[in-house]
Amino acid sequence: MLIDQFDRVHDYLRISLTDKCNLRCNYCNPVDLPKGYFSNINKMSLEEIDVIAGVFVEHGVKKIRLTGGEPLIRKDAKDIILRLSKYPVELAITTNGVFVHEFIETFQQAGLRSVNVSLDSLIPEKNLAISGRDEYARVTQNIKLLIKNNFHVKVNTVIIKGINEDDITGFIEWTKHEPLHIRFIEFMPFDGNKWSNEKVFSHNEMLNLISEKYDFVKLPNDKHDTAKKYFIPGHNGTFAIISSMSQPFCSGCNRMRLTTDGKMKNCLFSNSEVDILGALRKGLDIVPLIKQCVWEKKESLGGQFDTIYKDLDASKISNRSMINIGG
Ligand code: GTP
Ligand code: 5AD
Ligand code: SF4
Repeated sequence: MLIDQFDRVHDYLRISLTDKCNLRCNYCNPVDLPKGYFSNINKMSLEEIDVIAGVFVEHGVKKIRLTGGEPLIRKDAKDIILRLSKYPVELAITTNGVFVHEFIETFQQAGLRSVNVSLDSLIPEKNLAISGRDEYARVTQNIKLLIKNNFHVKVNTVIIKGINEDDITGFIEWTKHEPLHIRFIEFMPFDGNKWSNEKVFSHNEMLNLISEKYDFVKLPNDKHDTAKKYFIPGHNGTFAIISSMSQPFCSGCNRMRLTTDGKMKNCLFSNSEVDILGALRKGLDIVPLIKQCVWEKKESLGGQFDTIYKDLDASKISNRSMINIGG
């Protein structure tokens, strides 16, 4: 088992398949990162992902989520998904949804049932402004396709104050007839994404806005959930809020991350990384490195800030950009 100093058992691994994306959401994939930011990346190969994932599984990992960048743009994405399906884990993926129609059969073959799709607005023009690409129609069609094929679909919507908080009720309306699980995410600071506390639309602000139109009931949470879940009587789906900034959920954290260049991060906000891929290529035993990395995990938020995000100076946080971490 992989346990840290705070007795948290780590059984959930997020593997980033690529740090590239076909979209340009500015909060995640800033257009003005310095030239050369992504160059010379030594990506884990299919074989290396398989070997490293196998080691994590041997040490208690029960859930693997594939992330990116956009994981489905990787040329061998299908092979990776099928290869990882041999492990006794819950396999899941977070995607922008654009290429999902090409992967339905692969997901089914691999027993991958849970797909999280990012979509930030239900207004096509606004979606284009946020994501830099006109893919609204394809993404919404693919969400419907996933539902039709009985996948468990969560929609991730990053809410930025002044940009898309007025989309919240439209998304909730969508859950009336569709068995969709919408998650509104508080805007988080990462390298280059121009975060400021004024742009955070907090969990409480979201609930206030929603309560103007709907009566809702709080659903019980799993110990490891990132999202606080709510249900509106009569709706087919649910909504939830991921309150990383105003009410972090670090005490129940069971997550570890592997970046596409094979570095292990013990927290989304950790500023130290362990080079698992480098060690593997040198023929070293990676188990002690993984254990040490988990053991050194900070109690919350990578030890970089606290819940008083209103006082946070994002320039003091040292981390990668989100696209480069893997979400
Ligand atoms: P489930 O496995 O379905 O619970 O999904 P998830 O919420 O773990 O993953 P997803 O990739 O859909 O991420 C949704 C949002 O939650 C994104 O904004 C992530 O950055 C955020 N998130 C995911 N994992 C963590 C985490 O460990 N810590 C924090 N603070 N945020 C996270
Ligand atoms: N704050 C909150 N969520 C973010 N995501 C990307 N960047 C940020 C950010 N700065 C979300 C994406 C995707 C998930 C992996 O992370 O929307 O759904
Ligand atoms: Fe876990 Fe770090 Fe996310 Fe907190 S911020 S939930 S410790 S990964």
